[in-house]
Amino acid sequence: MPDSKAIFVATKNAGKLHELRALFSGSGWRLETFGGYADVAEGTTSYAENAALKAAALREQLVAAGIAEAVLGDDSGIEVRALGGRPGVRSARYGGDGATWAERRALLRAELAASDSPDRGARFVCALHFISSDGSTVGVERDVAGLVADKDRGTAGFSYDPTFWYPPAAKTFGELSEEEKNAVSHRSRAVAALLGAAHFRRD
Ligand code: IMP
Repeated sequence: MPDSKAIFVATKNAGKLHELRALFSGSGWRLETFGGYADVAEGTTSYAENAALKAAALREQLVAAGIAEAVLGDDSGIEVRALGGRPGVRSARYGGDGATWAERRALLRAELAASDSPDRGARFVCALHFISSDGSTVGVERDVAGLVADKDRGTAGFSYDPTFWYPPAAKTFGELSEEEKNAVSHRSRAVAALLGAAHFRRD
């Protein structure tokens, strides 16, 4: 789309970027990455704060490189009710830096089993923080409710998708097609909220 405007995305996560590109298609915005983007050390308090930190860090790195374009920070995670909302903002590092995603998903189910709670309720949360080329900001946060599955099911998506059971589809996110996940996910709900924000539309 030659006449689309650029948004640089503050992420190194290929799965997220792939989904965001699909969710922004047709919006008039083209999502770009910046090779020099170095992830910021995230705080542990809120998704919104982490998304804002990532966006601000990328903006600073772009300005230093002489690029004055809009930026988008995304912070997301999975929260398990019986675990008091863990792993939450620490989802990407749950189980330690060296753990595989299969190990992290198994650990989540093991922790839930050890809690002895019959409640398998969970939610995915996504916060987006947009900074326009003139420096004005828009922040949104959305979620999608589901359950921790009894085992990994499906291989689609990324990270926790195979263990996130989505009752309306009677499948895990790992069993949904890309289009099916993008119709209901926390990230798609956050992108829709962002695209609908009056302040964002004026940029
Ligand atoms: P961060 O936002 O880069 O800190 O990482 C968010 C982490 O949350 C990801 O690495 C995943 O572990 C998890 N997560 C967020 N969104 C999704 C999703 O759509 N599917 C599966 N896992 C997700």
